[in-house]
Amino acid sequence: MHDEFGGPFQARRGELIDVLALPGFVAERNGQVIGLVTYQRENNECELAFIAALERHQGIGTALFETLREAVADCERIWLVTTNDNLEALRFYQRRGFVLSALRPGAVNESRRRLKPQISTVGDFGIPVRDELELELRPTTRRAAGPSSAQDAANSKDGRWASAANSAVTSMASRRVISKRG
Ligand SMILES: CC(C)(COP(=O)(O)OP(=O)(O)OC[C@H]1O[C@@H](n2cnc3c(N)ncnc32)[C@H](O)[C@@H]1OP(=O)(O)O)[C@@H](O)C(=O)NCCC(=O)NCCS
Repeated sequence: MHDEFGGPFQARRGELIDVLALPGFVAERNGQVIGLVTYQRENNECELAFIAALERHQGIGTALFETLREAVADCERIWLVTTNDNLEALRFYQRRGFVLSALRPGAVNESRRRLKPQISTVGDFGIPVRDELELELRPTTRRAAGPSSAQDAANSKDGRWASAANSAVTSMASRRVISKRG
């Protein structure tokens, strides 16, 4: 957590939060934690505070997110903050129905200056880490993860999307996926 994700105190919206102090779910395999999601509820909304999969593109993130979504199904909105360099997260969330809801140019620079000097200056693909982006998922924009574009629709017709989804579910089912924390 410290090495890869900068420790439990994550900066967003001009404040630090201890994401490991929040309720959440862990994904496990053979007793080893392979993923984690934490969240907090406020005013009938839910902030997805932290999500990470230790092995990428194996369905772990999806399983964690779907578990969270079910747990907070009564919330009017799920929202989160990510950073401009995190293209994988932006892709992941948008594929699951999230839409962009806010951009704060320079917000990460400000957090680095004021709250947490350890925040990396350079992120994925060598992109400077500068800005906060917010995404949200509301019931009206929620949908089961599935085809969301003409290309996806074409993929689903020939079964490619469907088989990718199935293999993710199968791989997670064969692991003892989710145990509750908090
Ligand atoms: C964002 C994050 C949690 C996603 O987790 P993940 O476990 O890689 O996500 P998944 O494997 O469930 O899904 C990723 C893609 O892999 C695909 N996939 C899943 N299982 C697969 C498999 N067995 N073979 C091939 N592809 C697979 C999924 O279909 C998905 O593609 P899609 O989004 O186009 O549908 C992960 O990238 C991460 O930990 N990032 C670092 C921490 C971070 O930045 N968190 C977000 C902060 S805001």
